[in-house]
Amino acid sequence: MNDTLRDVIVAKKSDEAHNMASFELVDPADAELPAFSAGAHVDVTIPGGLVRQYSLCNSATERRRYVIGVWNDANSRGGSKALHAQVNVGDKLQVGLPRNRFRVPQHTKRAILMARGIGVTPIMSIADHLKRHDIPFELHYVYAMMSPGSFAEMIAASNFAENVEYYYESSELNKLLNPAAILADRPEDTQLFICGVDWWQDPIINIAEQKGWSKERIHVERFTAKVPPAALDKVFEVKIASTGAVYKIPGDKTVTAYLEEQGVKIPTSCEQGMCGTCKVKVIEGEADHRDKRLSDEEKAEGYFLACVSRAKSDLLVLNL
Ligand code: FES
Repeated sequence: MNDTLRDVIVAKKSDEAHNMASFELVDPADAELPAFSAGAHVDVTIPGGLVRQYSLCNSATERRRYVIGVWNDANSRGGSKALHAQVNVGDKLQVGLPRNRFRVPQHTKRAILMARGIGVTPIMSIADHLKRHDIPFELHYVYAMMSPGSFAEMIAASNFAENVEYYYESSELNKLLNPAAILADRPEDTQLFICGVDWWQDPIINIAEQKGWSKERIHVERFTAKVPPAALDKVFEVKIASTGAVYKIPGDKTVTAYLEEQGVKIPTSCEQGMCGTCKVKVIEGEADHRDKRLSDEEKAEGYFLACVSRAKSDLLVLNL
């Protein structure tokens, strides 16, 4: 955390999509704030003493405001939840000095930017920077399934709106990102900037590497720590309510993986308890929740994410 903290006031709070908000932070006396570079983040001290890092998504040419985007993660350890629920226009927060581990190299001649969900926040300030320097780029932005349309107004009002291609994860809207096609046959001086959750961006980084992109040209911002590999776990049974079939889930397999082997398919996407695709209702038995997505309300209603969660009881009856 930064040693140098300064007070800021929330000048504006905007809903950017479901569970997504932006906060405009200004100096209490409307003085200039410390300068930042595109891709930077700041520590934000939230009421209650929590400190969280948020990327600055406005133009680095602006000196009188910091704009941060905050996703109200169901698994928030408190920071994002508190910002969404308790912090409003006029409230005071503290921020540290901007820092940057996601810089645009000075020699950048052309770029591809990719972002998913809240990952677009540092990418927006990078897009602004590239535009101002007449550096050609494309921004491929995937709306997270739970928050379609996030930051759409902010992007529409930006200087880089025409550079943005949008993608959806919802099967109804069905425009999907094709990273292999986007990353193919690019000039060797193209830089890639990517930001999103690891389960989304790591496969794309692998594709880039397979296509010959050197590590120096791949710039990655990470929001989450990698999920540790599954350990040997409690064995329990799962009963499918519609058929009455019972399956014994081994300690080294997830519910979705084992049921699929047995011909029972539960749709999955991230397989890390983050996206919610594999949500299933438990109608009997006690779940052992291991996900990073469900709210307390959803858990109380009996839902669990079958790609990571397990059972405390010996049997779970699933509404399938
Ligand atoms: S597949 Fe994403 S939460 Fe289970």
